[in-house]
Amino acid sequence: MLVIFGASGDLTARKLVPALYNLYKANQLPENFVVLGVSRSNMTDGEFRRKVVLESKFLEEKKKGESLDFINSLAEKFFYEDLGADYNLEYSKLATRISDLNNKYRTDHNYIFYLSTPPSLYEVIAKNLSDQELNNEEKGWKRIVVEKPFGYSLGTAKELNRGLQKYFKESQIYRIDHYLGKETVQNLLVTRFSNSIFEPLWNRNYISHIEITNAESGGVEKRGGYYDTSGALRDMFQNHLMQIVSLIVMEPPIDASALEIRNEKVKALKSLRIMRDEETLFKNTIRAQYLASEIDGETVKGYREEEGVNPESKTETYAAIKFFVDNWRWKDVPFYVRTAKRMPTKVTEVVVHFKSPHHQVFKDSDMGNKDNKLIIRIQPDEGILLKFGVKVPGQGFKVEQTHLDFSYSDLGETVVMEAYERLLLDAMQGDATLYARADEVEAAWDFVDPILDYWENGKDVNIYGYSAGVWGPSNADDLLEGDFKWRNPTES
Ligand code: BG6
Repeated sequence: MLVIFGASGDLTARKLVPALYNLYKANQLPENFVVLGVSRSNMTDGEFRRKVVLESKFLEEKKKGESLDFINSLAEKFFYEDLGADYNLEYSKLATRISDLNNKYRTDHNYIFYLSTPPSLYEVIAKNLSDQELNNEEKGWKRIVVEKPFGYSLGTAKELNRGLQKYFKESQIYRIDHYLGKETVQNLLVTRFSNSIFEPLWNRNYISHIEITNAESGGVEKRGGYYDTSGALRDMFQNHLMQIVSLIVMEPPIDASALEIRNEKVKALKSLRIMRDEETLFKNTIRAQYLASEIDGETVKGYREEEGVNPESKTETYAAIKFFVDNWRWKDVPFYVRTAKRMPTKVTEVVVHFKSPHHQVFKDSDMGNKDNKLIIRIQPDEGILLKFGVKVPGQGFKVEQTHLDFSYSDLGETVVMEAYERLLLDAMQGDATLYARADEVEAAWDFVDPILDYWENGKDVNIYGYSAGVWGPSNADDLLEGDFKWRNPTES
């Protein structure tokens, strides 16, 4: 049984139910699977079914051509219970409802509690579940899934961890990071550790630097109120991008189990060089906000004019960070990571830049600074691109850059699972590999905290502006070493 707290919120209808729909369609849900929605709104089972299944605009596309019987059979798996204004009432009523559903649908006392509520409620909910013995695994398993943001700082993340761990064992806690549910993020592991051609080069001897770009063309949309208390560093970097970094940096795990993979990721995150002094932070971090501009003849608002945003806000919608990893493999290899809203396009990619050959044999090479690159496209057009030099036909040895390109779409009809689909299924199967462990989250905050502190309280910290639809402020070029430039991800 999946019990969703905050079930009347956006996430349930937008992400969770469409993921369940796909799983149901693919026959991947257990026969006796049911969903119990819980929130503060007053709703009947029927109203909940209409809201999230029968009349949901997020299922419109999927439902096309589908029989009514199929849709109704899915809707009938949804139930609803309201919990009072502060989520602190009537847990005995909730426990009775869960027990009734369990008896009727024979769910074997196996429950996932999915917390899609503000994090301030996590501990309260966990405590109340524990008071009702709904954390007790004597009969059936019990798991608790929590959404981001997981903490606002290192201190608050630790508090959240301790709060949840008072009532649930760490092995019962599943912290969602939807980037880990993305096929191409998982493919980072497979590319590295199932091939013998990359791993021998995956170190400071052959790699000159790593570049990660995460760009969105949209602005903060209707989430100005939330975003203004968060910013790009908390919203994207501390979680999604640090997860990607950990998969690039980590050592080979002994096997593909949750324990071994997460042990290596934690080690990787702990080896990031934390920047503490203002001079280092000044040189290696850039933040900026998008300004009002014209895109395709249309005027878009600047960040400070967005609804819910303080007109004097210093919250960043662009963050670029340069950092190093202090371990044997990565010593002195710069990592450049940027994330932003209102960029020219939506794209996430990892670029592994290899060093130039240490001796140039071909003087006529026009490779220039076009180093060998391995480009892992996380989204869209998921795939891998490898760039290297070949001889230009004809006299002499003129060298030109070409590439090998693999796109997931080349696999034809293969259906790539959506992130939430994979993650929900894993939680049902008790596989926590793609969920963040407490120490991972804390190690990531450990690195990010001093940057946030500097941006919020440092002396003379700049916040730059950039026009919507460009690749961020030109000041971000100052982070870069040598004649390296940020790659334009729209170029092949
Ligand atoms: C969310 C952030 O975690 O990820 C959003 O809160 C962001 O601000 C979103 O837009 C991006 O996810 P994706 O999967 O579209 O890259």
